[in-house]
Amino acid sequence: SRYWAVIPAAGVGQRMQADRPKQYLTLAGKAVLERSVQPFLMHSAIAGVALALQPHDPWFAELDIRASKPLLIAPGGAERCHSVCHALEVLLASGAQEQDWVLVHDAARPCLSQTDLDRLIEALSDDAVGGILASPVGDTLKRDDGAGQIAQTLDRTGVWRALTPQMFRLGMLHQALSSAIAGGALVTDEAGAMERAGYAPKLVAGSARNIKITRPEDLELAEFYWRSKQ
Ligand code: C5P
Repeated sequence: SRYWAVIPAAGVGQRMQADRPKQYLTLAGKAVLERSVQPFLMHSAIAGVALALQPHDPWFAELDIRASKPLLIAPGGAERCHSVCHALEVLLASGAQEQDWVLVHDAARPCLSQTDLDRLIEALSDDAVGGILASPVGDTLKRDDGAGQIAQTLDRTGVWRALTPQMFRLGMLHQALSSAIAGGALVTDEAGAMERAGYAPKLVAGSARNIKITRPEDLELAEFYWRSKQ
């Protein structure tokens, strides 16, 4: 079976308070999205990449992405799960098979290393379900009472931060996402949809440098990490 990458890049990035979505901000001279796609374009095991973009995205055409493999564009949806679902459908329509693997990676994660990508593929290729890159939580976690006070300290034992890529069989993931969407479930990552469908995805330890740009200060940190991995 083959390996495909899906990059949902149709978010608006409201929390960044920038003039454009965060995937189009500049990181070390190139758009964040170009940095995020690069590891998949360079990896010999990846057959092609499907990007989900906002329907009238004016920024993508300005990028300088040279792909030596198929680069497909899918329409983004209301939530991340819709965008990913559309990208899977575009892959299926262009000849990808249900049993092929798909690696879903946030457009806002520009610091994925080739080593972590290799480790994920290596760890899961013989797996029945698939799994995700993740990193153990370091901070103590608190739940608030809704009024600015601590209601509870959560037990962080065995708690992980879900990173991307998240790697699953195309057909199984499409079914899990479709059913989560149809059921109105809140799923913020692919593993969440798979769990809801009754599967137990694997955790593959990845670098905490693989951060998602969410707030303005994340861009500075990502630029530091990106430069130090070159
Ligand atoms: O907003 P958040 O950081 O969770 O977004 C994660 C990823 O999902 C980003 O790459 C964003 O562009 C993408 N996304 C999308 N379609 C949406 C919302 C988010 O492709 N409707």
